[in-house]
Amino acid sequence: MRLRLFSVSAAFLSLCCVVAQADGRERVRIDAGWRFHLGDFEGPEPGLAIGGWQWKAVEGGRRQALAAIPKSLDDTKGWQAAGTEDVFHGRRGFAWYRAALPAAGRRYLLHFENVDDNATVFLDGRRVGSHNGWGTPFDIDLKPALTGGGPHVVAVLVENTNAQGGINGPVSLRLPMAENPPAAIRPDYNDKSWRALDLPHDFVVEGTFDQKADGSHGFLPAGVGWYRKSFTLPVADRGKRIFLDFDGIYRDSDIWINGKHAASHPSGYTSFRVDATPFVRPGAKNSLVVRADARHFEGWWYEGGGIYRHVWLVKTDPVHVAHWGTYVTSTAGPDPANPATADINIQTDVSNDSGSAAECEIRSQIVDPRGRKVAEIASGEKIGPGMRAAAHQRVRIASPLLWSVETPRLYRLVTTVMRGGRSGQVVDRYVTPFGIRTVRFDAAKGFFLNGRPVKLKGTCNHQDFAGVGVALPDRLQEYKVQRLREMGSNAFRMSHNPPAPELLEACDRLGMLVMDENRHLGDTYTDHTPSGTPYSDLGDLKDLLLRDRNHPSIVMWSMCNEEGLQGTAEGARIFQAMKDVTRRLDPTRPVTCAMNGGWGQGISLVEDLQGCNYNPGGYDAFHQRFPTLPAYGSETASTVSTRGVYANDKEKGYVSAYDVNAPPWAQIAEVAWPAIADREWMAGSYAWTGFDYRGEPTPYYWPCVNSHFGIMDTCGFAKDNYYYYQANWTDRPVVHLLPHWNWPGREGQPFAVWCYSNCDSVELFLNGRSLGRKTVDREKHVEWDVPYTPGKIEARGYGKREAVTAVETTGAPAAIVAAPWIGRSLVADGEDSAAIAVSVQDDRLRDVPTADNLIRFRVEGPGRIIGVGNGDPSSHERDKASQRHAFNGKCMVIVQSTGQPGTIRLIAESAGLKPAIVSIAAVRGSKSILADQ
Ligand code: GAL
Repeated sequence: MRLRLFSVSAAFLSLCCVVAQADGRERVRIDAGWRFHLGDFEGPEPGLAIGGWQWKAVEGGRRQALAAIPKSLDDTKGWQAAGTEDVFHGRRGFAWYRAALPAAGRRYLLHFENVDDNATVFLDGRRVGSHNGWGTPFDIDLKPALTGGGPHVVAVLVENTNAQGGINGPVSLRLPMAENPPAAIRPDYNDKSWRALDLPHDFVVEGTFDQKADGSHGFLPAGVGWYRKSFTLPVADRGKRIFLDFDGIYRDSDIWINGKHAASHPSGYTSFRVDATPFVRPGAKNSLVVRADARHFEGWWYEGGGIYRHVWLVKTDPVHVAHWGTYVTSTAGPDPANPATADINIQTDVSNDSGSAAECEIRSQIVDPRGRKVAEIASGEKIGPGMRAAAHQRVRIASPLLWSVETPRLYRLVTTVMRGGRSGQVVDRYVTPFGIRTVRFDAAKGFFLNGRPVKLKGTCNHQDFAGVGVALPDRLQEYKVQRLREMGSNAFRMSHNPPAPELLEACDRLGMLVMDENRHLGDTYTDHTPSGTPYSDLGDLKDLLLRDRNHPSIVMWSMCNEEGLQGTAEGARIFQAMKDVTRRLDPTRPVTCAMNGGWGQGISLVEDLQGCNYNPGGYDAFHQRFPTLPAYGSETASTVSTRGVYANDKEKGYVSAYDVNAPPWAQIAEVAWPAIADREWMAGSYAWTGFDYRGEPTPYYWPCVNSHFGIMDTCGFAKDNYYYYQANWTDRPVVHLLPHWNWPGREGQPFAVWCYSNCDSVELFLNGRSLGRKTVDREKHVEWDVPYTPGKIEARGYGKREAVTAVETTGAPAAIVAAPWIGRSLVADGEDSAAIAVSVQDDRLRDVPTADNLIRFRVEGPGRIIGVGNGDPSSHERDKASQRHAFNGKCMVIVQSTGQPGTIRLIAESAGLKPAIVSIAAVRGSKSILADQ
């Protein structure tokens, strides 16, 4: 990470954001000025049509089908010739298809135009890929090449869940894009008709909800997107190393620089660097083309598509700190809570990409949270041409300021590389934020931070957000973490994939205890790891560890989630290999995973820390059997609820916000949290989930497009459960009442009025009349039966903590109120954004809890709307729009600065309502002095 310097011209700033420009190294965000095309292009070599398909119905389910995977064409019993017609005729279940493929000796993709519904593809009996949902073309990579004598046999297990089904479109063999690229990769290609946009960008969220698309991915069609950008390098860049750092592309990306294929990257979640040096031309315009293929999923939730995280152009001297090349650890003592000294261990990897040996001095300075230099050390390394060397240094500092949840203090390691020794030339300067803290998991007493017990009060979260899909501006990452902090949460699980660097940065800055998670067990890209998956590369895991290991917020490394192999010897073998890699790259944190079965077997026998998904009834038995293995709830709760709705409505896809509904494998919050809170040995838990996310609509399906698991909705608006956790997770006085009190036509009918509180007792009043006082157990709600009478219900909390809250019957919608979360200013960098919460109020400034008015947004000044949302899990309104209906009184608009300073005015209007106007200053400057590496 480096200091951001802003001594650059305004014109330059509007094109890109300079993050560092110091002593040989420059790092520039190149998110602005891209061209985008939705849809794919074919290369010049045509595909080879595959015909001669046969099919046969499967009796029974998937398991029966998999017991007889077709590996040859010899057995003819039951097989019939297949065209592209429906073979199911309404039958739900499975059918096998098979066909011969020629021996080709090259890597090919098998392209399907349409399989209805779900396809699992096998080549010569080996699973090579799968695709869910119908109506969208997809490719299956037939790695390794179709070598040997052939013919090869491709078999497709087709699952039909409804109506018609089968392989309902043509199938062909195609060369991978890298080997057969279309004209769009050429530098002189005319892309004027392509859309101009700035990154980060998620093209899937721009689509139209479609019942035919994969529901677990939110019913938004996945696809392929192409991006182009040109950039000019000055002549002075000759001799420098030029890198492109991609923080995340979903997924299967190919990158061409000046018409040459420079890299492929399958993972949609890991960050990666492309060495552009051999491809670029200093002193000239350079072309960069990226293809992102989001048609294959890595998970079972909304995953988006496109270049959805930042892209950086990095220039260095040939002798430079290597990519993710610093590693800082510390040991503080003797009293971990109040150490007199801390030893800082520094490993610096320096690359010498020049043609001659380099005599280097590597100087490390430690800068404390107040900006004072507190230690310095230098050592010499001789690095051969084309070689890389690691310097190991240790310094001691006195009275270290510890990183903790309450005081997340960050130090900085400033690395300077001098070529030619001490008096030589400074060729690189590189900044790494870190924190000094100790973490320890105890099998009997839970988690300890800096020697003190801390319960993990966490949530699991996927990466998407209202309005923007997975392409979150940095400020929204911070918003999410901040909303969780306000609830009293101190822990964040990156489920189930490596996160955006800025999310980790926010956790570092705000004090969150992170469970950082790798996507797959072993080397695979399917949603769950099949038996036989290799684990010799583990490149994605290494990338995660190298990128993230300096973040003080991370307290454990999670290798995977709910794998079918979790309880098996094979799962344990793969896990052990991953643990070995993790130990080698970072021995300071325990290695874990999230298991939903097989506890006590397989992976349990080789991990450092047992993660339990659900199943609180099994905690004690596990602990008795494995009293020395520390444990925590890697996933808990999974309560389903819809904000502001108080009865289930299957047709609309809404679930009551009373804490009464959980799927069969899950528990309501009032069961899940006490199971953790009441067991000292349980280190804490991560509730599923902090925020609703797209996809996994549960318990209802279409028209639902979202999950209902969030403690908050997709905009970060609190559901009632938020206050249950707040009452348990903070010491601030909390009284919260539900439901709302607008029930016209239901006068006299009884309503269950619930109160969440951490006061000793609570008294409820209806229109000033006491309905009695009840003793509070903060792990449960207190409840009264109240016949509905319009007016006011009020709860007064008494005891050590005291608080009052009231819910009133409101009048009709009269006005709009808009409140930007960031306060009143944004950085005018074309990236910084404000989440603006919009409420509909009556003429007495009370939020109308049932309002559904259509709110239209306009921006004046140097700002733009990048998305809208309202938390309605069944809304099919567009997120990329300048209007949104309020859902139960609220909606959200996200406004981004454009690069020009000035005043941004957001105007929110609706027929018959008083409009709201918010002014936000867009100012020059930086939102944080820290940017991730
Ligand atoms: C878990 C799984 C999560 C999510 C959740 C829903 O089993 O790990 O990814 O699917 O269930 O309750």
